[in-house]
Amino acid sequence: MKPRYDNIGAGYGRSRREDPQLLARIQAALGSARTVVNVGAGAGSYEPPERHVIAIEPSDVMAEQRPRSKAPAIRASAGALPLRDGSVDAAMAILTVHHWDDERERGVRELRRVASGPIVIVTCDPRVSGQMWLLRDYLPEVAELDLQTFPLPEQLADWLGGDAQIEVVPIARDTPDWSLMSYWAHPERVLDEGARNATSGFARMTETVVERVVGRVRQDLASGEWDRRYGSLRALSDFDAGLRIVIASSRRASGPGQADG
Ligand SMILES: C[S@@+](CC[C@H](N)C(=O)[O-])C[C@H]1O[C@@H](n2cnc3c(N)ncnc32)[C@H](O)[C@@H]1O
Repeated sequence: MKPRYDNIGAGYGRSRREDPQLLARIQAALGSARTVVNVGAGAGSYEPPERHVIAIEPSDVMAEQRPRSKAPAIRASAGALPLRDGSVDAAMAILTVHHWDDERERGVRELRRVASGPIVIVTCDPRVSGQMWLLRDYLPEVAELDLQTFPLPEQLADWLGGDAQIEVVPIARDTPDWSLMSYWAHPERVLDEGARNATSGFARMTETVVERVVGRVRQDLASGEWDRRYGSLRALSDFDAGLRIVIASSRRASGPGQADG
C-alpha cells in the first residue's frame, strides 16, 4: 500500500512552514544532543539546522519536498527504525504519531530504544482541539477521527517510560505553520483549497464532508454569523487549540532498549 502522505502530501511545503516559537521549544528540549533522529520527518520542518539529523520518512511525496540543504530521508517507518539501540543522542517526532496507525505504541517505544537522551514529541490533545469552533461546530468527523488516532499525551508519556513532561503550546495567530489547529483564528483558510489539502484533517475527509463545511463557513462569514459567534477570537494573539509537546529526558540506565555497544 502507498504511504498515506503519497496521496495528501503534495503542496505541503507551501503552507506548512516552521513556526519559530515551536522551533525554539523543540531546540530547547533537545538540549545538548548532537545527533537527532527525526521520525516522520516529512519535508524537514523543525529539524535543528546545527545538529546532525537522520531523517526517517516513508512517503516519497513528502521526502521529495525536502530542501537540498537538509539530509535526505531514509525510507522507513516508525515501528522498525533502522538504527541501533542508543545510537543517537535524541529523537523527535513532530505531528506524525497520529499517522502511525497500528505502529503507534511500537513507534514511540522505538524512539526510546534508539535515543540515549531526550525525546521530543509534538502532538495534539484531541480533547482540547475537538472544542475549537471548526471541529466542534462544523467538522465533528475530524474531532471523532482525532480521538481515535491521536494517542493522549499521557499515553505517550507512559510509552516513553513515565517520566515525560507534557507542555501546552499556544498557537500564535500569525503562525506560518497552517495546521488545522492554526485555523482557530482564520476561518477564511477553510475556503482555501491548497491550505485545506495540506492538513491531514481535511485531506482525509470525503468530498461531500469538505463541500458541506466549506459551504457553511462561506455562508456564515458572508452573513456575519461567524463573527457574531466566534469573533472575539479575532482579538487574541494566541490560543490553546490543543498543541502539546511531550518531552522525555534521558533513558534509565537499565531495562529494554539498553545500548548494545
Ligand atoms: C503531518 S506530517 C509531519 C511532517 C513533519 N514532521 C513536519 O512537522 O512537518 C506527518 C508525516 O508522518 C509520516 N508518516 C506517516 N506514517 C508514518 C509511519 N508509520 N512512520 C513514520 N512516519 C510516518 C508521513 O508520511 C508524513 O510525512
